[in-house]
Parts: sequence; C-alpha cells; structure tokens
Amino acid sequence: MFAARRQRFLDALGPDSVAILVGARLATRSADTEYPFRQDSDFWYLTGFDQPDAVAVLRNDAGPAFTLFVQPKDRAAETWTGIRPGVEGAVERYGADEAYPSGELIEKLPTLLERARHVYHVLGRRKDVDRKLIAVQEELRTRTKLGFAPAADLIDPRHLLHEMRLFKDPEELDWMRRAAAISAEGHERAAGLAQPGKYEYQLEAELLHAFRSNGASGPAYGSIVGGGKNAAILHYVTNDQRLAKDSMVLIDAGAELAGYASDVTRTYPVGGRFSGAGRAVYEVVLAAQEAALALCRPGATLPQIHEAAVRSLIEGMVSLQLVEGTVDDVFANESYRPWYMHGTSHWLGLDVHDVGTYSRGKEPRKLEPGMVFTVEPGLYVRDDDENAPESLRGLGVRIEDDVIITDDGHENLNTAIAKRIPDVEAWVRAGS
Ligand code: GLY
Ligand code: MN
Ligand code: MN
Repeated sequence: MFAARRQRFLDALGPDSVAILVGARLATRSADTEYPFRQDSDFWYLTGFDQPDAVAVLRNDAGPAFTLFVQPKDRAAETWTGIRPGVEGAVERYGADEAYPSGELIEKLPTLLERARHVYHVLGRRKDVDRKLIAVQEELRTRTKLGFAPAADLIDPRHLLHEMRLFKDPEELDWMRRAAAISAEGHERAAGLAQPGKYEYQLEAELLHAFRSNGASGPAYGSIVGGGKNAAILHYVTNDQRLAKDSMVLIDAGAELAGYASDVTRTYPVGGRFSGAGRAVYEVVLAAQEAALALCRPGATLPQIHEAAVRSLIEGMVSLQLVEGTVDDVFANESYRPWYMHGTSHWLGLDVHDVGTYSRGKEPRKLEPGMVFTVEPGLYVRDDDENAPESLRGLGVRIEDDVIITDDGHENLNTAIAKRIPDVEAWVRAGS
C-alpha cells in the first residue's frame, strides 16, 4: 500500500526528480519530557514509518527509489525509549531499498542529489537540510564541465501529495470507518454520563477510555466537552465544569486510528430529556444538517452544501426570533453570522482539518468519489448576547458527521451515533 503510493507519487514528479521528505521529531513538553510522538502526516502517508527523526529520499533518477534515514539500533537508547527498527528494519519491514542512520543524512545528500533535475523539498523544517541542499546545488554549478548540473528547480511536494491525500484509497476508508466505530463507542459511553452534577472531564474520560481501549492512539484533536454556555465556545477544551440540570452538553470528539481522524459532534440533553428552547435549537440544527447531507454527492460543491445548511438554519433562526426577514435577505446580508460563524465542512483524513485544495482556480471544486469531509452546522448563543431572546442565551448545539463521497451519493460514517431526538435521549437515559 505504501509502496503503491510512493510509486504514484514518483510517477507524478518529472523525470530525474529527487524528493526529500522529513519526518517529525519529538517535541519538548516541559523540561526533559516530550509530547507523545505523532508522525508527520505526509511522511506517514508515503512510508508508514512511525519513528522520530526519519528522513525519506524518493527518486526516479538512476538511484535507488527509496532511501530511509532512521535512528540506528542502539542498545542503551532502546533500553530507555523503546526498540527501534534500525537500518535493517527500515529495509526489511518498511521496504526501503537502502537505509542509513539519520546522522548520515547531511553527508549523503551530495550523492543523493547529484543527478537530480528537479528537487522536491519543503523548506523551513530542517535548517541543516535546507543549508546543505543549497550548498550542494552551488557546488554542482562549479562542476558543470564534468557533466554535472544543479537542479533546474526546487519544488514544494505538497501540492502533489495533498491532491493524492484528498482522494482516499480503500484501505484508508476502512481505517476511517473503524475510527468512526470507535468514536461511536466513546460517544455512547460519554452520553451515558451526561447527568446533572457530573464534570465535563468525566465525560472526556469516557471518550478516552473507549478510544484507547479499542486501540486508537487517542483523540484526533482535543476533545471538546462543553456543558451549558460552554457549548458556545467553538473550541472549548478546558472541560472542567459541572453539568447543570436541564442544560445540554456539546461533545466534539473523535478517535485517531492508524493516523486517521474521526471528527464527530453531538449535543446531549443533560439528564436525558431535551426541553424548551434547547429542544427547539436542536431541531433547527438537525434540520440544517439533514438539508446539507442531502446534497452530498458527486458533482456538488462544499459551498452549495454550506448554503443549504445556512438557509435551513436561517429558517430556524427566524422562528426562534434571532433574525428577521426573508431567508434570501438574511442570507445576503449575513445577519445570521453572530450565531453561525463557521464553515459547514472541511476535508478529513490523516489530519482533522485535512489537506487538499477547496477550489480549482476561482471555482469551488466539485465533489468526487473518495473525498471525505465533515458536515457540521451549529447554532451558538452566548450567555451575554443581548441581541438574542433571553430564553436562547447560553445555548449551543452542533451536529457533525463525516461523509465519504461514493459513486452515486455518500456514505455517512457516523450513523451508529445517536442523532434523532428519541435516540439521543435514550443514550443519555441508559446511563442514568
Ligand atoms: N473538531 C474540530 C472541528 O470540528 O472542526
Ligand atoms: Mn469537530
Ligand atoms: Mn470538524
């Protein structure tokens, strides 16, 4: 799978190209502790190699197609931080044609680059690599009489790679389905704990339990558990407040599995019964999400999906007395924006806000099979919002699903997560 991707990538480069891909390094958390390692998504996509400090050199000139630089075997270091594949493992298990210790990268760069007509490299990640790359080109310029030549250009590989990543292959879709299934278990567990008096972090702990105990690396992004007015803070991750009776709690959380993100939001009634204004807002957002989902098929565009969500939300906002006027007027004058200020969709994949362009020239790109994205309308009223009816203040609802575009429509990855009012209420009451 990774080999096939590397081949597709190499086929997309011009002839005599060399691409240098830099893997992630450990980041300091505090003093001498580090954040858990997370491989760079592009590096993972092409190599499946999940260790820090690696560099891959892919080439379609005369040299070996895949060279990996990796942390070498080191008994003492491995005793502290874990067994490394080493250069032997890089060849045997990761399909490298040749492998060297990471420390030899800089000295090997001249040989790796001397026949390259096109060099693909992301500048700014590793100053030592950038400097050497430039020095090598200048040095080749002095050897033209001997038949050498500097590369004709230095190209950022990301436009090619990210276009590849935008279209998920069947293996990727399977990982995403599995990440979604794990997220469903997390949501169900957390929903059961949406009871008055519980702390937001207790619900977060249920999510984490489900994610890790099913083999996910953890959450794909900081889990959002916003009770009451906290639901109106879009990326609330403090998660340290108590849930109040008759409030709602917004949970935006998804598992990361094999690097693939799931990104799901549900809003649960604390205690298990939607009531009053909260119920009305929930119904408005649900209708908007359904209107948006109905458009998810090949040939549609994300702005069309967003517009469908917004128009439906506006109808609801009129009935909730948040805005006045016709749907067309409110859509045009954007007076809905204080209560719906974000987009409806983003690509999803190895990154939660995944790579890939959203337009082709000036035109939004048309959806095609294999693209995966979210559909996540919401409605948020801050508790100090004097422009909103008092009954709505402090309410926030978002409903977010992930969809794959198929040949004739879409596959919703999150149908196992309760969304209709009776189903959501039943999930909460099951835990009471
Ligand atoms: N969880 C971040 C987002 O929904 O985009
Ligand atoms: Mn989300
Ligand atoms: Mn999202």
